[in-house]
Order: sequence, then C-alpha cells, then structure tokens
Amino acid sequence: MSEVVKVGILGRGTVGGAFRKLLTERAEMVEEVSGRRPEISGVLSSKEGDFEEILADSEIVVELIGGTDPALDYVTRALREGRHVVTANKQLLAQHGPELVAAARQGGAQLRFEAAVAGAIPVIRVVQESLGAIPIEKVFGIVNGTTNYILTQMARSGLSYEEALTQAQELGYAEADPTDDVGGADAAAKMAILARLAFGAPVRLDEVPYEGIERIKPDDIAYAKELGLSLKLLGVAERVGGGEISVRVFPCFLYPGHPLSPIEGPFNAVMVESPAITEITMSGPGAGGPETAAAVLGDVVSVIGGGSPLFEENAGLRIADDVEMAFYLHLEVDDRPGVLAQIAEVLGDHEVSVRSVVQRGMGDEAQLIMVMHPVAEKRFAAALEKIAKLEFLRSPPRSIRVIEEEFG
Ligand SMILES: NC(=O)c1ccc[n+]([C@@H]2O[C@H](COP(=O)([O-])OP(=O)(O)OC[C@H]3O[C@@H](n4cnc5c(N)ncnc54)[C@H](OP(=O)(O)O)[C@@H]3O)[C@@H](O)[C@H]2O)c1
Repeated sequence: MSEVVKVGILGRGTVGGAFRKLLTERAEMVEEVSGRRPEISGVLSSKEGDFEEILADSEIVVELIGGTDPALDYVTRALREGRHVVTANKQLLAQHGPELVAAARQGGAQLRFEAAVAGAIPVIRVVQESLGAIPIEKVFGIVNGTTNYILTQMARSGLSYEEALTQAQELGYAEADPTDDVGGADAAAKMAILARLAFGAPVRLDEVPYEGIERIKPDDIAYAKELGLSLKLLGVAERVGGGEISVRVFPCFLYPGHPLSPIEGPFNAVMVESPAITEITMSGPGAGGPETAAAVLGDVVSVIGGGSPLFEENAGLRIADDVEMAFYLHLEVDDRPGVLAQIAEVLGDHEVSVRSVVQRGMGDEAQLIMVMHPVAEKRFAAALEKIAKLEFLRSPPRSIRVIEEEFG
C-alpha cells in the first residue's frame, strides 16, 4: 500500500476552498489515524484545472461543485474507473442515487456523502452504519438552516417573512436566490437521501411532496406561541404500516418539550426513532464552509480506512397515499351567531375532531384559532375546501400541521 493517498478536489468555492485548507492543515493527523498521508493531486474550478488529469492522478475524488451538470458525469466516471468519491451534493444523490451506487459497484469504489445532509452532523453515518442493522421507524428533523433561522427570527422579533429573509441574506444564512431553501426543495432532497438509507426504499425526489415557509404569517406564529407551540420546517420519513412509507417536508407546530422545539437559528437537528433505541437526537451546524469541510474530511478518512457502507434496497416498500396529522387552523370570520356551529358541522361531517378553539377579537377583527386532533390529511383537506366556501369567511383559511405528542 502506498504511503501517500492522492485526493483530487472538484470545486474551490465555499466548501471546496475550506476543504482544501483543512486537508492541508490536518494531513498529519489524517496520516496518524489512517496510516496514509493525503496529498492534493489537483483542484478543478470553472476557470482552472483539468478533470482528465485530476482523474488520472487521484485515488479519491472529492466533488464540491454542486448541481448535476457536470457533477453527475464527473462522479459517475470516477466511480466506474475505481476512484472513491466523497461528495456534499444532495441534488446529485437525491436525483441519481441508484445510478451512482451502480457505478460504484461496477468500479469497486466507495461513495460517501456525509456532508450532503445536515452539514457537520454525522447523521448519514449513524443511519447507514451505527444503526445499519436495526429497523428504523422514523427519521425526521430540521434539515434546512435558512428556514430555521427565518422562523426563529419571526417568532423572536415578530418580523414578517420578508423582513426575516432579508436579514438572513444579509448575514449569509440565505442565498441571493433562496427559492430552493424557503420553498422546501432543499429539505426534500435531503429527506429522499435519508429515506433511502433508513428504509432501503427506492424513494425518488419527485415522490417527496414538499411545502415551504413563504405563506407563514407572523400572527400564526404569535397565536401559536401563546399555546406554547413553536414552528419548524420539518422533513419526515416514516413507516406508516401496510408496507408503506411516507416522506414529506412541511412547516409544523411542535408542542413544548419536543426535542426539536429548542433548535433555533441556522442549526439543524435530526431524530431517529426505532424500537431498539427509542430515539436519538443529533443537532449542530447544518452548513457553512469549514463545518461542511469537516464532514467531508471525515468521509475521506473513512474511505482511506476501507470498508464500504451498506446501501441495500428493499423494493417491497411503497410510498403512502395518505397519512394522519394534527392541524392548526386560522379563520378570519364575521362576528355573528352560528358561525362556530357551522364550522363545527363541516368538521364533524368529515370526522375531524377539534382539540382546542380560541376566539380572538370582535367585529371586523374576529378570528378563530383551532387545533385539531390527528386526522387523515385528505379528509382534513376536504373539510378545508368546504370551510373556504362558507360565506362568513373574510379571507382564505390558513392551516399548518402540528406534531401532537407532548414530550417531557
Ligand atoms: N455552502 C455550504 O454551506 C454547503 C453545506 C452543505 C453542502 N454543500 C454542498 O457543497 C457543494 C458545493 O457548495 P459551495 O457552497 O461550496 O458552492 P460554490 O461556493 O458555488 O462553489 C462551487 C465551485 O464549483 C466550481 N464550478 C462550478 N461549475 C463548474 C464546472 N462546470 N466545472 C468545474 N468547476 C465548476 C466553481 O468554480 P469557480 O470558483 O470558478 O466559480 C466553484 O469553485 C454543493 O453540492 C452544496 O450543495 C454546501
């Protein structure tokens, strides 16, 4: 075995630049723990370097370009030609996971991607390796730091969504084009990856329904705060019985005492539930150049150490068509007798049962804030459609999911 291991770096942006610096600084430590000293064989950016030369001269290729073109081509070729690949690219994995696994098998190479989900938190390693041999029931959490920062600021300072987004952009927690983060697509890609690993199910990115936080109003957060609820954008992947799983992203209220309620600012947190372990919660920085680079370096050390993580598929599981959730419902209504009775009738007709109701304001300000018990989502949607048509409603109804369990 050679004393030196050649590492080619594709990308020298936020993560690529930080990784190059870290690898240089920590080369001696990597040699101590792995027995081999890493050396950079070349760096590729849009303006410098040559992929063919880097490929020819590398044992490990670290892909930190992002997106799928040209990353898919580079990573597939590297794997097929027997180069181990470490990547932080969630889009690539969520959209092309099976092809990449096939290329890795063909080339007898390892594919590692700890930094693709929840940045510096070692969630992939825990799901794939530490818990690789136990049945996982549910993996869920806050996997997007931009949205968690925005929701935290809306709750703390009463900012509007737009104000909190501008603040996040000024502080570097949100990109100039925040669409993928605030709309939930970024979290959906991460949940597709986690679901594949947790259940071995062939989840495609287009099978993960997602909602973002753009519609959230400060008064929804304020009313819910009075009930002790906090709002998070959650990614949830769970077994729902009958050989089905559900993988989704949605804004959701949490009761106090829930392990995810205190996760604030740009932090991420992921919970894993299984009868064997009850539950594990991991939290930490979900992004940032140096933080993400640290996770990439951990993967490089694992690759040098050898051993291929499991990535088996269980084709028997299907994506569920409907699931049960509790809901918060905010209605602006005319202040007159019979209003509550009519809403209760529609909910009753759809077997939606109400957990709590608060009436706020009078006259033109009258509002009803309700929290429902868990109900099949399609049944609640049907009830909501009817409620939206009631003539005494002053604006469209607003609903947000609620995790019902009270912890602690
Ligand atoms: N930033 C984070 O905190 C974070 C956290 C977790 C995961 N990630 C993931 O890490 C990856 C990299 O993100 P980043 O924030 O470092 O991106 P970035 O700052 O935009 O850097 C991208 C790099 O790729 C290079 N590049 C772009 N197109 C190229 C092409 N056609 N050929 C060769 N090189 C090309 C760019 O070259 P130039 O330098 O010439 O522009 C740049 O060096 C992404 O998959 C991202 O999702 C990022």
